[in-house]
Amino acid sequence: MSAIVIRGGEVVDRGGRRRADVAVDDGIVKAVGPDLAAPGGAQVLDGAGCVVAPGLVDLHAHLRQPGKEEAETIETGSRAAALGGYSAVVAMPNTDPPIDSAGAAREVLALGRDALVEVAVAGAITVGRRGERLAPMAELAALGVRLFTDDGTGVQDGALMRRALDYARGLGVVLAQHCEDEDLARGGAMHEGAWSSRLGIPGVTSVAEEAMVARDIALARLTGARLHFLHLSTVGSVDLVRRAKAEGVAVTAEAAPHHLVLTDAACASYDPTFKVNPPLRTDADVAALRAGLVDGTIDAVATDHAPHAPEAKDVPFDEAPPGMLGLETALAVVLSVTDLTRALALLSWQPATIAGLAARHGGPVAEGAAANLCVIDPAVTWMVDPAGLASRSRNTPYAGWKLTGRVRHTIVRGEAVVIDGEARR
Ligand code: DOR
Repeated sequence: MSAIVIRGGEVVDRGGRRRADVAVDDGIVKAVGPDLAAPGGAQVLDGAGCVVAPGLVDLHAHLRQPGKEEAETIETGSRAAALGGYSAVVAMPNTDPPIDSAGAAREVLALGRDALVEVAVAGAITVGRRGERLAPMAELAALGVRLFTDDGTGVQDGALMRRALDYARGLGVVLAQHCEDEDLARGGAMHEGAWSSRLGIPGVTSVAEEAMVARDIALARLTGARLHFLHLSTVGSVDLVRRAKAEGVAVTAEAAPHHLVLTDAACASYDPTFKVNPPLRTDADVAALRAGLVDGTIDAVATDHAPHAPEAKDVPFDEAPPGMLGLETALAVVLSVTDLTRALALLSWQPATIAGLAARHGGPVAEGAAANLCVIDPAVTWMVDPAGLASRSRNTPYAGWKLTGRVRHTIVRGEAVVIDGEARR
């Protein structure tokens, strides 16, 4: 591993902004300051016009391995992540088999060891994600698992969720809930509203999400456990979390990039690319989520990167699996709705803390810190071409969009894994 010097950029981390070069060696940031000399043999990376920031951290990536390697693998998903500026991702456990045992977690962690970015795993809350009995959370926690979720489904049984929260509290881990009341949501394929009526596609009421958010806030208050809400999508959910936080309940929340820029109107094309769970909602929901980013109700933007192979998505809207790609576009999408420092807080240091990864990720960019960094050109405009994505799948909702802001270099564990927008392997 050679030494690296990033020249001519502006460092941005939770401490603020300053012009500085950054020198890296041996996996560690060695110096941050003006006009740093490059030792012999050092790799010099151009940071002119760029922001040098802590690497991004994704709380919510479906890497599909094991079981759906035709859609994504840990290798292709982590390459997409590196190109998107991520130094760490949390792999969701709705694989096949699911990550509901120490053996399954060990397998994914081993596959992740060679990946371009750090791959942390989330464990399932319940065995098989079936919502019937708890997974061996203590065994998973002993392997370093810090986040538990049945994502793809929510834990329907309130008594079981209460028990999971009690365990989580004892283990010092975070439960991450996919809030969806299955009885209320059954049969729906898009948001229930004017568009679903017009298109004749069965809808899912916002209440299917909000009912579980409300229940789980009450359970978090009761148990004192740490609860994180995945991909919130409605005005009512944002309101509930805002009030819970004001009251001091230990909850955090994320929004997905697509819920910040797309609405249910996109479903008018009947293109299954726009089918996602929770569904794209209304302008009022988008506005509420954006307001939540600004007032701190939403702590993180997490991609919910959900690759599906073309043949799986190439079916009628109501039969298609929900999900859209996110890792390679998240940063630019978030920059389109908020300023750079807030975008980095939402994409890097705040999620790093929620994931329990803050010892190595999320900055600060300072001497002695782990060298997990991204170098962003905030001014460059680029066109999203599905064929050019590193993901094995093509289901991006932004095909043909012109986005501004792109990652130039990504450094993970002191190694430049993306240089000038190209992944090293
Ligand atoms: O759209 C979604 N896709 N939402 C989920 O909760 C699961 C995910 C998937 O795994 O495809």
